[in-house]
Amino acid sequence: MKIFIDTANLDEIRKANEWGIIDGVTTNPTLVAKENKDFKEIVREIIRIVDGPISVEVISTDVEGMIKEAVEMSEWSQNIVVKIPMIPEGLKAVKILNGRNVKTNITLIFSVNQALLAAKAGATYVSPFIGRLDDIGHDGMQIVRDMVNVFKLYNFKTEIIVASIRHPLHVIEAAKAGAHVATIPFNVIEKMFAHPLTDIGLERFLSDWGKVPNR
Ligand code: E4P
Repeated sequence: MKIFIDTANLDEIRKANEWGIIDGVTTNPTLVAKENKDFKEIVREIIRIVDGPISVEVISTDVEGMIKEAVEMSEWSQNIVVKIPMIPEGLKAVKILNGRNVKTNITLIFSVNQALLAAKAGATYVSPFIGRLDDIGHDGMQIVRDMVNVFKLYNFKTEIIVASIRHPLHVIEAAKAGAHVATIPFNVIEKMFAHPLTDIGLERFLSDWGKVPNR
């Protein structure tokens, strides 16, 4: 499973990228707004840091507007993937953008049917938001499991990005489900490192090494 980092924070992206575990980046308008910086500048810097797919979202909700934004953003780098909302106009845009070789990530997916439609339209990626489903009492990960099965059954090329990840267990479940990608917030990546036995073990090794004569 590929790991994308779900943030527009450059320090977080730099740090995680240095760990050698980052295959790509996803942003959204909310994440960008948190940074209080010029959008284009943020994306240009992300492009410099990470050599992999970088999702940036359109703001328009009509086909012409989405295509205009998407084409402009795709010219910034061949790694740009344009996030398009899961609405009928969005799927129309995907079909047209495919013809122009612009990669797309259909965002705000909350059901297998939505993912099926996005895949039929030829989206490069679909992003099911599992945390937001859990928040309203649904089993978010179940739609990922079902999507993986349906996409396999019909040999869709569209990749599934598990999004809206809230904690490390979501990552494990995404991997077990066979998702292509998990896009993970920085704080969750940090938690994935942590294990008390690692800390205790390292402490013991270092202290025992101190007892070795003539080291
Ligand atoms: C990523 O593509 C999504 O925009 C993001 O994971 C949404 O996460 P949230 O539900 O925590 O806002």
